[in-house]
Amino acid sequence: MKKVLFVILVFSALVLAACGGGGADAVATLAPVPADFAGQTNPLGADAAAAGAEVFKTNCEACHGPQGHGDGPAGAALDPAPKNLAVLQTTAGDDYLFWRIATGKEGTSMVAWKGVLTDEQIWQIVSFIRTLKQ
Ligand code: HEC
Repeated sequence: MKKVLFVILVFSALVLAACGGGGADAVATLAPVPADFAGQTNPLGADAAAAGAEVFKTNCEACHGPQGHGDGPAGAALDPAPKNLAVLQTTAGDDYLFWRIATGKEGTSMVAWKGVLTDEQIWQIVSFIRTLKQ
C-alpha cells in the first residue's frame, strides 16, 4: 500500500512540474491578427536585422532590454511587464509582430509606433527580433 501511495505522489509531482514550468513568459495563445494585417510577411531579409537593431536600441530597448528579454530599466515597474520578445518570436508570425508594433497593445504601456516609425523600420525591427535568443 505504501508503495502505491509513493508512486501516486511522484506522479502528481511530475504532473505539477510539467504544468507549472512555463512561467510568466510562456506564450499561451496569441490574439488573432486583425484582417488588415493577417498574412503579411516580412518583405525584408535577415540583412535588415542590423538596421533593426539600431531602431530597437533607440525606441524599444529601455523597456524590452538589449536582448529583448523584457528586462529594460524603464520596464521594471510596469504591469504588465514588457514582453520577452525572444520567447514571443518563437510562436508569433511576422504579421503578429508587425501588427503589435504598429498598433500597440491596449491596456498596457505598449504604444502604437505607426506614425513614429515607418513600415520599413518596423519590418527592420521584426528582422532583428528574429535574431533574438532566449
Ligand atoms: C514603455 C515601455 C515600452 C516600450 C518603449 C516598448 N514596449 Fe513593447 N511592450 C511593452 C509592454 C508593457 C508590453 C505588453 C506586455 C504584455 O502584454 O504582457 C509590450 C508588448 C510588446 C509586444 C507584443 C507582445 C504580445 O504579447 O503581443 C511587442 C511585439 C513589442 N512590445 C515590441 C516592441 C517594440 C518593437 C518596441 C519599439 C519600437 C517596443 N515594444 C517598445 C512595453 C514597451
